[in-house]
Amino acid sequence: MDNRPIGFFDSGLGGLTCIPPLLAAMPEERVIYFGDTARTPYGSKAPSTIKTFSLQIADFLVQRNVKMIVIACNTVSAISLPELQQRYPDIPVVGIIRPAAEKVARTCDKSNSVGIIGTKATIQSNAYQDLILQLSPDIRLNAIPCPAFVPLIEEGIIENEIMDLSIKYYMDSFIEDHKIDTLVLGCTHYPLIRDNINRIYPFLNIIDPSREIAAHIQRQLTERDLLAKNSDFENTFYASDLSENFVNMINRIFEINRFKVEFKNLDFDV
Ligand code: DGL
Repeated sequence: MDNRPIGFFDSGLGGLTCIPPLLAAMPEERVIYFGDTARTPYGSKAPSTIKTFSLQIADFLVQRNVKMIVIACNTVSAISLPELQQRYPDIPVVGIIRPAAEKVARTCDKSNSVGIIGTKATIQSNAYQDLILQLSPDIRLNAIPCPAFVPLIEEGIIENEIMDLSIKYYMDSFIEDHKIDTLVLGCTHYPLIRDNINRIYPFLNIIDPSREIAAHIQRQLTERDLLAKNSDFENTFYASDLSENFVNMINRIFEINRFKVEFKNLDFDV
């Protein structure tokens, strides 16, 4: 048993989408979340910048005595997972790409046409493509970056014609040209526009890594005897810029009566 919190981080508010599935599966667990809202988006930045930022945040979480680090960001998972695992050999560091790639390999075969959407950095890294093909070499895969989605979502432009137009701009010909039937939401911000995508392309089978990672975390905690019990730690949410949208999103995603949240601001040396 281990009542220390699990540390989550993302470039902004997207990684929050990993937390409700986790707490639904493991209500005894507590979390510390860091959203780098001052420096979002990461997905169009150079890999070296993404590595620097992610190491700073992981250090911050480790200083707060987390029992596990969850990289609730596909971009950071694609770029920095090995470095983070090497830096903290005593703490499990979990990336979000493997659980989703395993789900694709488990549920799809060569009759499917799988599309992956994500940030530029994630798609250009080929992290999803390489891992899925390693697990299941016959799967037909295509991937496309959708760089406008994260800034719009961070601005709270979601249930909106502008978001729908942006989705169609990137995805209409992608889906039609490749006859996509299964779509991986390869960025933790994208579950927040899942309803838009469902409405525009109702025939798609959607794979959501933010949901898939919960079972992976549960397995790791169980194997290492790190599950929590009766913890009195308060779920805590940090942001490098405490934007109104970050606070609104926590209120929107969480049932505020069930999960106590504490908002804190943190200034980083860049
Ligand atoms: N939520 C991050 C991801 O999963 C968004 C990256 C960004 O800031 O561009 O990739």
